[in-house]
Amino acid sequence: MDLPANPLRDPQDRRLPRIPEPCALVIFGVTGDLARKKLIPAVYDLANRGLLPPGFVVLGFARRDWGDGDFEQIARAAAEKHARTPWRDEVWARLSGNIKFVGGSFEDDAAFDLLAQTLDDLRDSHGIPGNAAFYLSIPPSAFPVVLKQLGRTGMADNDRSGGWRRVIVEKPFGSDLQSARELDDLVDDVFTADDVFRIDHYLGKETVQNILALRFANTLFEPVWNSHYVDSVQITMAEDVGIGTRAGFYDSVGTARDVVQNHLLQLLALTAMEEPTSFEASEIRQEKLKVLRAIVPPKDVAKDTVRGQYLPGWVAGERVKGYLDEDGVPPTSTTETYVAINLAIQNRRWAGVPFYVRAGKRLPRRVTEVAVMFKRAPHLPFQQADIEMLGNNQLVIRVQPDEGVVLKFGSKVPGTTMEVRDIAMDFSYGEAFTEASPEAYERLVLDVLIGDKTLFPDAAEVEASWAVIDPLEEAWEGTKPEPYRSGEWGPRLADKMLGREGRAWRRA
Ligand code: BG6
Repeated sequence: MDLPANPLRDPQDRRLPRIPEPCALVIFGVTGDLARKKLIPAVYDLANRGLLPPGFVVLGFARRDWGDGDFEQIARAAAEKHARTPWRDEVWARLSGNIKFVGGSFEDDAAFDLLAQTLDDLRDSHGIPGNAAFYLSIPPSAFPVVLKQLGRTGMADNDRSGGWRRVIVEKPFGSDLQSARELDDLVDDVFTADDVFRIDHYLGKETVQNILALRFANTLFEPVWNSHYVDSVQITMAEDVGIGTRAGFYDSVGTARDVVQNHLLQLLALTAMEEPTSFEASEIRQEKLKVLRAIVPPKDVAKDTVRGQYLPGWVAGERVKGYLDEDGVPPTSTTETYVAINLAIQNRRWAGVPFYVRAGKRLPRRVTEVAVMFKRAPHLPFQQADIEMLGNNQLVIRVQPDEGVVLKFGSKVPGTTMEVRDIAMDFSYGEAFTEASPEAYERLVLDVLIGDKTLFPDAAEVEASWAVIDPLEEAWEGTKPEPYRSGEWGPRLADKMLGREGRAWRRA
């Protein structure tokens, strides 16, 4: 006789937390910044929230002469310092027995054999039936050798492992379309395409996921979300920090490759895409891909893009170095630390609506936002003097910090005249919800372990994004970036770029 279904086991029931099957997370590059500041703290936060299975092991791999205990100490220090959720000794005590380390270089066959053996042994020691995710938190130049080792030892093989084997690839995913394709081939040779998770941590941010909720769960916005009502869209990712200690990486990359190719184009795609038929990963990716493929890079690159490089200056009351004075940056470097681009999307919804995208380091403050600027009302039956303080209506998605959404529109100023002025209606996560948002990496690591690909761009998206950036990089070759003072909003030319079209950057 069939037992009645247990309603408490209904996968649709929101009260049921999504918990992965017993598994291991193998981190390559475990001594790096990303592992210390994001990945290990994310594991702790997940454990603290009760979202990891009892059979769960973190396995670090690096060129260090460490035992499990040494790595555990370092992991603990990293988690204590960078975790989002409060520290609880009992949570760490449960994790600490499940932290392992294998030392060796990426060329060291014996070390990889030992890693494979260690994973196999987890079946008996921890009840983990072959499931493992490999996090490649390593420089792209090391991808080929690590992938080869994973292939050689059979560690990437689902059948051999008896469970699932997944790989997580950090950006940058290539440095142009061709290298991205080569990398895809390399990864696909070793892992099945379904088991490859490309990380763009912006997609893990609550506020970024909320773009889809805002657009497709409401009736209010969609009817005006098109060229009939939208004048332009501004996407800004401003950072107050400089390049820190990352000169080696940053100088060979620059802002367009570092954050526009991925984070900003993903924000653009979510803002501009059509409604997916469902929230299945493949449906959302399909719609994003259509937008990315409809982007037309500017014909006149000199006019419709601005590259900048920061000079010394003041940020938040502190004197800071110029880019060329940063440790490890060649004094003749022409790498950009700021970029502004005027992009068009060639489809019916967006024809004629410019998407202005800008990103930069050493700007006055850290803010990422998507601002949808609406057209002015076709007729304003007011005295000109009464509407001097009335701007375009704006819907601003504040990705970070002060996460939320702001709607700006005109309102009558109390008094005897019909003076109209812009006011802001503000939704802030901090006030609307009691629960704090998870960190992007917390969400994304959990999704990999569960096998949910919704928040991971696929190879086609990555390639379509490179197809936007490649012609720009080509046109910029041999040109010098415009200098801008640290603590200012980028080069003046970026203001001129919008000014020519009768627009101005929003004060973010
Ligand atoms: C990374 C870039 O992808 O994103 C960094 O490589 C940048 O240069 C960082 O600083 C910003 O991330 P967030 O989440 O702080 O906006």
